[in-house]
Amino acid sequence: MTPDWAALRASATDAAGRSYSPYSRFPVGAAALLRDGSVISAANVENASYVAGICAETALVGVLVAGGGSRGDLVAVAVTDPEGTDLSPCGRCRQLLHEMGGGALPVNERPMDEWLPGAFGPEDLG
Ligand code: THU
Repeated sequence: MTPDWAALRASATDAAGRSYSPYSRFPVGAAALLRDGSVISAANVENASYVAGICAETALVGVLVAGGGSRGDLVAVAVTDPEGTDLSPCGRCRQLLHEMGGGALPVNERPMDEWLPGAFGPEDLG
């Protein structure tokens, strides 16, 4: 399935507009095309207890799993700010996306293997 990157970025941008980020004032949106052709999205959610906040990509993985999805269901992921500019996923989110999508998963049109070279993954647990 070929991702419509413009549409996926538009979904991420839309989600970024619904971000709850009153502390950093740095809204982030993430969107994913799934194997069944559907699109899911999420935004970062912050908290007065700063360390309790979660990134948009982390929330996205939660949406994936809550909707019945799992490893292998992600086809492509976009991460943007509310203006539609691509953002770089943080290290923890790279790990979470790698778990669900593997090294070939394109994130902002770059494979996870480039975002997280030499990743530790499920296969390393034997
Ligand atoms: N953030 C994300 O949502 N995703 C990332 O990959 C990087 C950072 C959020 C966390 C926090 O709410 C805000 O951006 C500033 O770091």
